[in-house]
Amino acid sequence: MLNTIEEVLISREEIREKVKELGSRISKDYEGKELVLVGVLKGGFVFLADLMREITIPVDMDLIAVSSYGDSTKTSGVVRIIKDVDFTMTNKHVLIVEDLVDTGLTLKHLKELFKTREPLSVKICTAFDKPSRRKVDIEIEYKGIMVPDKFIVGYGLDFAGKYRNLPDVCVLRSTS
Ligand code: IMP
Ligand code: MG
Repeated sequence: MLNTIEEVLISREEIREKVKELGSRISKDYEGKELVLVGVLKGGFVFLADLMREITIPVDMDLIAVSSYGDSTKTSGVVRIIKDVDFTMTNKHVLIVEDLVDTGLTLKHLKELFKTREPLSVKICTAFDKPSRRKVDIEIEYKGIMVPDKFIVGYGLDFAGKYRNLPDVCVLRSTS
């Protein structure tokens, strides 16, 4: 069972610096464009809330809820839309805001789905990237902090629904 915090892997200060950097890049790249940030629930909401406050151009936001994991640390590969966005994507630039890209299956699926709705563009921004576990080839335009192949929690990331509220990103210890 994974249930106690082993170590702080990424501090809140380090996260804050990276979020600022991403926010300023996004502000420059989308200057004069109709941008909508789409946060992926539940994990992406903490990052979305911080990121949008580092964006200095007018920006809209929406949320989508998907499920690809049960109460488990292994992906099932099944992506289910639980709550869709409420806006029409034509004439908008869409930026998907995700907590972490692991196998890439969730985002691959979401990006393909969004493309069928014909936005002006659809790109991805992730707070954390775990490239060692990628199963599908996926382009990530805005990458935050690279993480090793360890199960992490905090800053929106959960284990069985818990630990999302930790301000730092931590590694969980196996106790059995
Ligand atoms: P992917 O489809 O495998 O790329 O990952 C889908 C989602 O699984 C991520 O957006 C996270 O919400 C979750 N996930 C993947 N790895 C971890 C982890 O180490 N800790 C917590 N959640 C994770
Ligand atoms: Mg997620």
